[in-house]
Amino acid sequence: MRIGTVKEIKTLEFRVGLTPEGVRELTAQGHSVVVESGAGAGIGLADSTYEDAGARVVASAAAVFENSELIVKVKEPQASEIAMLRPDHTLFTYLHLAADPEQTRGLMKSDATCIAYETITDARGGLPLLAPMSQVAGRMATLVGAQFLLKPSGGRGLLMSGVPGVAPAKVGILGAGVSGMHAAEIALGMRADVTMFDISAERLAAVDAAFGGAVTSIHSSQKSIQDFLPQADLMIGCVLVAGAAAPKLIRRGDLKRMKPGAVLVDVAIDQGGCFETSKPTTHDKPTFTVDNIIHYCVANMPGAAPLTSTYALTAVTLPFVQRMAAHGVEAALAADPHLAAGLNVKAGRITHPAVQAIMEAA
Ligand SMILES: NC(=O)c1ccc[n+]([C@@H]2O[C@H](COP(=O)([O-])OP(=O)(O)OC[C@H]3O[C@@H](n4cnc5c(N)ncnc54)[C@H](O)[C@@H]3O)[C@@H](O)[C@H]2O)c1
Repeated sequence: MRIGTVKEIKTLEFRVGLTPEGVRELTAQGHSVVVESGAGAGIGLADSTYEDAGARVVASAAAVFENSELIVKVKEPQASEIAMLRPDHTLFTYLHLAADPEQTRGLMKSDATCIAYETITDARGGLPLLAPMSQVAGRMATLVGAQFLLKPSGGRGLLMSGVPGVAPAKVGILGAGVSGMHAAEIALGMRADVTMFDISAERLAAVDAAFGGAVTSIHSSQKSIQDFLPQADLMIGCVLVAGAAAPKLIRRGDLKRMKPGAVLVDVAIDQGGCFETSKPTTHDKPTFTVDNIIHYCVANMPGAAPLTSTYALTAVTLPFVQRMAAHGVEAALAADPHLAAGLNVKAGRITHPAVQAIMEAA
């Protein structure tokens, strides 16, 4: 199959859809790969590295679209990219169509086959192509939280780990799913005193099993969270209610229960945030303060670690690319219901029920 990847053009996006390692696998299996010049430059992956792996490097995105059947990207296509899509193209990338009717209409008009990373499923009901970004965001949440506890960052002047004779920071994590577990792992590694809250008994049991009792697990309720807040130095919001806005677990009035200079990191900000006072921020200006509490609410946390994020993402996308390349897109979709769950638009029609419902309501 002819496979291509382009340089991402969305502002401040440095990830890339295929790594040289992925290209080497594909070319070894007899496929041809075209890569736009500079596609990996933002994370130090030079054109020559792609060429050494067997790719043909071309000067423009147009040349990639011209010479590919399967286009592997990271972010949703921008208008100039949608304009280059043809009926014989398969687009494989994050789409997030539910929030973007204009893009949906563009993809329908192209007649291309559009498969979204975020709706591909796995046998356990998870979303395996979203998980790596939750892993990155969860781990980063603890790191940024620790940084903003320090005085030069506006915090209380607390060292996360403490030192012998001085207690470490108390960290509360709301939600013990993918991002929450990864946040906890790093917090524990930094020797923080960690407590996790979840409404799922199964997840609370998983916390206990994963950390051997080193992390306290508490059933999440308004009261249990409020009781914890006066001790908290850092609260990390990692909750998700699938398909719904994040529940507001810390209200503005609760902030006065917290220590001045304590930090809130709202990983769930992309679903509206789980703290009432959260509003989306960017890496340029990641924090703001409300009632003496520092809020970190960056909606695209993995964007700060594009090198790690590229490798984490492509590790889970490449097997699907390989299957589509080996068997053809149609056969791969027919053989794998989890890949088929990723199909959002095909031949001018919306094929995903959730996107369909939102478009009908729009
Ligand atoms: N900001 C970013 O850059 C970024 C990056 C990746 C993911 N995210 C977002 O982070 C959020 C979490 O993602 P995830 O992959 O960890 O989700 P997940 O589904 O793996 O985990 C969510 C957890 O929240 C729990 N939960 C639901 N309601 C709760 C409540 N009231 N109290 C306590 N726990 C509750 C669920 O039981 C579940 O265990 C999502 O909104 C995701 O989109 C943000």
